[in-house]
Amino acid sequence: MNQRPIGVFDSGLGGLTAVRQLRRLMPSENIIYFGDTARVPYGNRGRETLLKYARQDLRFLRSFDLKAVVIACGTVSANCLEELRRESAAPVTGVVEPAVERAAAATRSGKVGLIATRASVGSGAYERAFRRLDPALEVRALACPLFVPLVEEGRCRPGDVVIETVAREYLAPLRETGVDTLVLGCTHYPLLREVIGAVMGPDVTLIDVGQEAANLPGPAGGGGRPGGPSGGLGPVLYQRPGGEFPAAGLPVPGRGGRGRGGTGGHFSILMMMEKEIILFVRGEQTYDSDSPEVTELATEGRMTMDNGEITLTYQESELTGMEGTTTRFTIRGDTVTLERTGMVVSRMEFKQGERSSSLYETPWGTMVVDVATTRLAHRLTERGGVLEIAFTIAVNHQVTGENRFKIRVKEMTR
Ligand code: DGL
Repeated sequence: MNQRPIGVFDSGLGGLTAVRQLRRLMPSENIIYFGDTARVPYGNRGRETLLKYARQDLRFLRSFDLKAVVIACGTVSANCLEELRRESAAPVTGVVEPAVERAAAATRSGKVGLIATRASVGSGAYERAFRRLDPALEVRALACPLFVPLVEEGRCRPGDVVIETVAREYLAPLRETGVDTLVLGCTHYPLLREVIGAVMGPDVTLIDVGQEAANLPGPAGGGGRPGGPSGGLGPVLYQRPGGEFPAAGLPVPGRGGRGRGGTGGHFSILMMMEKEIILFVRGEQTYDSDSPEVTELATEGRMTMDNGEITLTYQESELTGMEGTTTRFTIRGDTVTLERTGMVVSRMEFKQGERSSSLYETPWGTMVVDVATTRLAHRLTERGGVLEIAFTIAVNHQVTGENRFKIRVKEMTR
């Protein structure tokens, strides 16, 4: 079996309803799930913003060498599927078409309801898909913008007066139209299945978008083949810091740490984020007892935080004499690695009180560089902070002086 994972993402926890079905159908697949919990909800955002967020979500998932992607978000599927498909090497499945096909097959009266986020309904994607399939169907679409925030708050159980009141208000006009099939066009909504079912009544068939997408044949879908040998790792869940998977109403057991999922697989929730930053880089080089030579650079860059590892990446410029070079600091525990690629290629490792040796390739030749770290300190959070490194440096075994980096990182606000 191809062990490369399937990547699944959503704005929050809703897409786990698709993961639940994937796990049921394909227990031995490895699944990486990303929930953009810090930026949920997506459903009231414009198309450009959705595309930007979805591309960032996918860029993170792609670092896992995926064999397939499931966009377990109705809002992103309805608004961005074509672009994301064009840009992805791995096959991409959205949730709109599979649910529409199932609903068209299920309806007897030809009257179908669709509830989804504002951005999904506004895109018209569900209605277009129904029209392509059967122009005679009568489709009533309704946006329910409060459902996602309430689900994320864990307010999804029958008996919760807030969700029950909101559901009755939203769904009353649909009830009156006499639809016999209702597409839950947002992957958060299956968590409200009981509440919605109680309002709509037992004669209305509810179609779950995440489940239908997971049923699809092909590399990402389970193809309706339940069973198969177990032994996959179970979904690994990632979220942005600042958000969290709430405990209530989840098809997974809770927040943080490792545990056993309701589907039987191990899972872990790890922190990941990637953001645009501004770096103020001050470098000092002191040769002999001369006063230090100072370079200062303010530049845009990127910061990632992934399970304790922090990276800072930026482009050098003519100010530092290394134009055409990408610099990356990777901070892992008490060790910092400085890697340069492009015009200059180097890799240096810093750990307080320790020495390390490496090669430094420049257009003018290759040198052996030994560094001895005298000071290393960092205070970095996802909001920014400072990284300081001081070291003596020897080039081709000749000590050339003392170097000091002080890098201030600020998150970029646009
Ligand atoms: N689960 C997402 C969807 O399917 C929710 C969108 C949102 O965050 O508003 O549309």
